This record gives sequence, structure tokens and C-alpha cells, in this order.
Amino acid sequence: MSKAKYTVTAALPYANGPLHLGHVAGVYLPADIFVRFLRMNDHDVAFICGSDEHGAAITLRAKKEGITPQEIVDKYNGIIGTAFKDFDISFDIFHRTSAEIHHKTSQDFFLKLYENGKFTEETSEQYYDEEYQQFLADRYITGECPKCQNPNAYGDQCEKCGSDLSPTELINPTSTLSGKTPILKTTSHWYLPMQNHEEWLRAWIKEGKLDGVQQHDPKAWRNQVIGQCMSWIDGGLHSRAMTRDLDWGVKVPLPNADGKVLYVWLDAPIGYISATKQWALDNNKNWEDYWKGDRKLVHFIGKDNIVFHAVIFPILLKDHGDLILPDNVPAYEFLNLEGDKFSTSRNWAVWLHEYIAAYPGKEDELKYVLTSIAPETKDSEFTWKEYQTRVNSELADILGNFVNRALVLTQKYYEGKVPQQGELTDYDKEVLAEMKAIPERISKLVYAYKLRDAQAEAMNLARLGNKYLADQEPWKLVKTDEKRVETIMNIALQITANLSIVLQPFLPSTAEKLSHFLNFKTTDWTQAGTSDLLAAGSLTNSPTILFQKIEDSLVEAEVAKLQSTNAVESNFEPQKDTIDFEDFTKLDIRLGTILEAEKVEKADKLLKLLIDTGIDKRTVVSGIAEHYSPEEVIGKTVQILLNLAPRKIRGIESQGMILMAEDAEGKLSFMAPEKGFEAGGSVK
Ligand code: 2FM
Ligand code: ZN
Repeated sequence: MSKAKYTVTAALPYANGPLHLGHVAGVYLPADIFVRFLRMNDHDVAFICGSDEHGAAITLRAKKEGITPQEIVDKYNGIIGTAFKDFDISFDIFHRTSAEIHHKTSQDFFLKLYENGKFTEETSEQYYDEEYQQFLADRYITGECPKCQNPNAYGDQCEKCGSDLSPTELINPTSTLSGKTPILKTTSHWYLPMQNHEEWLRAWIKEGKLDGVQQHDPKAWRNQVIGQCMSWIDGGLHSRAMTRDLDWGVKVPLPNADGKVLYVWLDAPIGYISATKQWALDNNKNWEDYWKGDRKLVHFIGKDNIVFHAVIFPILLKDHGDLILPDNVPAYEFLNLEGDKFSTSRNWAVWLHEYIAAYPGKEDELKYVLTSIAPETKDSEFTWKEYQTRVNSELADILGNFVNRALVLTQKYYEGKVPQQGELTDYDKEVLAEMKAIPERISKLVYAYKLRDAQAEAMNLARLGNKYLADQEPWKLVKTDEKRVETIMNIALQITANLSIVLQPFLPSTAEKLSHFLNFKTTDWTQAGTSDLLAAGSLTNSPTILFQKIEDSLVEAEVAKLQSTNAVESNFEPQKDTIDFEDFTKLDIRLGTILEAEKVEKADKLLKLLIDTGIDKRTVVSGIAEHYSPEEVIGKTVQILLNLAPRKIRGIESQGMILMAEDAEGKLSFMAPEKGFEAGGSVK
């Protein structure tokens, strides 16, 4: 039978922030292990990812950081892509949904469904922010959840009770753009009538059958995945809008659709297809081989993406008519950190790029710990203490110790040459039989997506070797029975060579080091288990220490770092990137006194101010008119950034910027000095 072919995807991360260990443990690392294993087993496989660069997640972040959506996605696509590379996640391609090929692919996908009558066009009243002149879908609107009364539910979902919502269900809706109550306005969109798909979805998810034909083994799917899908379907499927009135996204490719873009459902997962297309173009392959015919499609995702990948995307794929449906959707639960949820807003996180910068060359330590605690079936927790324990007492004391002993003794006794294997004792035979059984057990576990147990099984081989040497004590025996020691050392080296194979999917850089120590390398998994990988007489190298022990001081420093930045639950944005002192000294901030103030015509938010800066009198246009009247501000001494490049605002040249404090609700306040300070004083 020919080997199964695979297309493996890992959820496209939003390009609106860096990756933290929760993302890594619950999507990217398991996907990478799975793919590395498949490649070693000669499966034809494509490993696809990229950044998700559309949707409210991006535009709202851009607004918060005060830069354009394009600047946001460029910044985070860079940070995320580099972190993946440095962490050696072996994607065949890490693409992006802002690429032209993606826009075209999503539009073609939409058109195919549109032309085949898969959508309905519906007109309805939707909330609209008059100030921003924008319809408010999804995260652009908040209000009280009608189901659990959470006052901060979003227009698409309540994060407290998990209910799917639509904006019109919210009680007391508020625009997240202006903070005001929206009005209702008529608009039309293309809808996907999901209710038409209920019957086949039930059979496909529960029995793995499509049109009566067995597609996948439903027993191989995680209970949580089937459970979430079935309860979603049982809750009733409805028509859902596939388009939005927004200006950031993939434009709806129809003549009467100005100002409309495809909803993320018809955008993000199609990113898997467009990335495959780009990769195929770059590598002289045909993308269709990866999305049609006899091939297993596997989506690695976090549990918040289950319905998206196991219900919605399959509906779209099936409607398209010629594309394969997922064979499995291995979804991960959440990883917590030191007793609390990961939180970007509270900066309660260990960021992947920061770990890599702080601990270069220690990627495998992190990979090992994250796979050991991967949230496969329930939420789990990362603590620096556990990181220390696992590195010290498993990687260093077992794997590192065994490999070091085997290679150092080989140097000492045989000048690095692999000794002959002589007659085997019963114990030797038992050890070799166990060594043979381990790769087979790992294989079964990996194909069943039990990567945590699979890694533990690979470590059992190191445990076996470590115990073997400790029991046999060749360092004592060498004085009385040199022949016997040759056999013991040969077996220890064969175990090390086997480790260089079975560790490859999990700890690729450690496996590479073992290969270098042994002058032996194979990427062929089927060679694992054999006891003659190293020929007698072949030369090995002196080893270096594989794993340094982690000191208590590192654990204490990391925990203190988390706690120092995270004393309180905060609604404020996280700290910006670090700057050096020189950057700071470039800012010329002084005290200035407001001499005159007037409203700017046709601009509700702006005041035109004349300010005495101590060195001149200059005009500044400031967005404070909703907080202060002109009369209130005259005479106030304020902080002003003098050397900001002049800008024309509503035709008036603004020659500086007033610094204001802003609270979590967006209320503004001047930062006045104490009494007695006058215009011209500098702020340092
Ligand atoms: O939840 C997320 O992270 C989104 N960016 C969707 C990822 S999956 C998708 F790309 F299909
Ligand atoms: Zn709720």
C-alpha cells in the first residue's frame, strides 16, 4: 500500500501581536513534531502556515497603537515569522493573507460559490457608527450579553458564556470606535445558509461518512472536537453573513459591492490554500495535488477554532465541490501560566521571541517542556519551576548523562572507536528488545496525535540506556573483564544512535548534535530499532554537554519579571517596545501656557491653541474639544512636545503636540506642573 499523503496546516496567527508559549504549545509545536515524523516516514507532506492579516483583530490593534493596519501586519508578520524560524518550526511556507495571490484565491473561491448559488443575498438593518461612518460588526460593537448579562460581550461572541451572538442581540450596544450608541441602517450582504448543511455534517462528524462513503475514522477525532461541533449543530444552524462593510480585507469581487469585504470565514482558512499555491509556484509543484484527491488534510488548532475548522470551513470546501475535507482536526486546550491565564493586555505571558533572545541555543529545552505539558486533552500549566525540574532531572540527568557517559567512556577506553559487540547476556537481549519496540510505540502514538506520550516514549529510550550503564557499571568492570565492557559500550552507542533518530521530531537540534558526536546520521525512521547502526571500528567524537542545569536564580528572576509587570488586571495597553536613553533625549518637551483657544470649524474634536513656549508663541491643533471648552483651557500651563515635525490639520499648521493623560475610558486630562512653574521650563 502506498504511503498516505498529507497536507498539514497550523492555525494562521493574527498579525496583531507576538506569539506566546500558549500558542506554541497548543498549535505550532505539535504540528511541527507531527510533520517532522511524517517526513521521516516518507509521507508526501506539505506543512502550511502564514499570518492572518485581516479582520477586526488587526484594525482595532492598529487604532490602539496609532498606526495603519498595513503597518501593524508588517510589524507582526515580521516578529512572528522570525520567531518561528529561530524556533525551527519547519513550515514549508509561512505566508500572509495580505498577499495578492491570497486576495485572488479568496475572491475566486467566493465567486465559485456565488455562481453556483450557494449564497443568498439579504438586506437587513445593522448598527452603524455615525461619527466613524462605519457599520459595526463583530468586535466593533460591545454590549450586554442577552444570555449571561456580561456587560462586555462582543458583537460576535460573549467570551464569558461562550454564546455566539449577533450585534442586534446585544443589550445597550456601544461602538468600540467612538464609544457612542450606534444607529440602525440598512445594508445588504451575502449569506451562507448553514442550515442546509445539517444532515451531511452530522453523518460526517459522527460517523466520518460523506454521501455514505467512509472518509475518516471518527474514533481518531478528539472527544472535545466532536462534542463542540455537535453541540453547535444541535443549537441550530442559521444563515450567516459572509461579507462585511469594512475597508480592510479582501474586496467582494462583485460589481455592486463597493466598501464590502469578505468576512474572515471566507478569508483566513482560504489562506491555507493560497499559501499552498505560493509554495507550489516557488517549488515547481501543482497546488491541486495538495487539496484534491487522495490526501489527508489535517488542521492543528486551538480549541477556540474548532467550529471554524470542523464545521464552517468544511461547508465551504464541500460547496466548492472539488476540494478535500479534513481528515482530522487535532485541537488543543489552553495552556496557563503560573496559575493564571495568558493575557496579552496584562502582559501575563512568556513571549516566544523574548525566550529565544534570552536563551539562545536552548530551543530544545523549551520544546521538551512544552510537549511534556502540552494541553492535549485538558488545560495545562507552564511554570518556570517545572521548566527547571524537567530540564534538570530529565534532559540533563537522564538524556544528557547517558549520552555523555557513553561517548566519554568510548573516548577513554577505545580512543573514540566503536567496540565490537560480543556474546549477549539475557539482560542485553532484553534491553535490545525494548529498544526495538520503542520506535513502533512512538509511531502508533504520533499517528494518534498523542505527541505528549510519544515524546515520553522517546525519552524512555534514554532512560533505558541510562539504567543499563548504571546497572552494568562498565567503569568498574573494565578492570576485570575488558571483553564484556566492549559489548556493553557497543550497546550503549547503538542506543545513542537510535536516540539520534527517535528524538528528531521532538528535539531536532539535540538529535543533530548526537549525529555529530557519532558521525552517524539518518532521517529514515524505519532504521530505528536496529542494533547495528554503528559499525564496529567507526569513529565517534568527544561530546559536549547537551543540557546545562537551570539555576534557581533563573526561576526566581523569570517569576519576578512576570509579577513586576503584572501586579493588576489592567484595561490599559501593554508596554511598548523598549527604547534607549538616546531615543528619549530626542524629545524636546517643555512647559507652555495657553494664551488663546478657539474651536476649529467643522471639526467636533479640535481646538486651535496659541501657546507661549518660553522661546516663541506657536499654534497647536489639539484633539481635546470634546473634553474641554476654549474658555476652560486659556491660562493653563501644559506640557508640549516642541520638536514634532509640523503637520497640517484641517488646513492649519500645527507646530507641536500637547501631552495629555488618558484613562481606560478615554477621558483626557492635562498634566499641569505644580504651582510656580512657568512656560519654557523643560520636562525631562
Ligand atoms: O484564531 C485565530 O488565531 C485566527 N487568526 C484564525 C486562525 S485559523 C484560520 F486561519 F483559519
Ligand atoms: Zn454571555
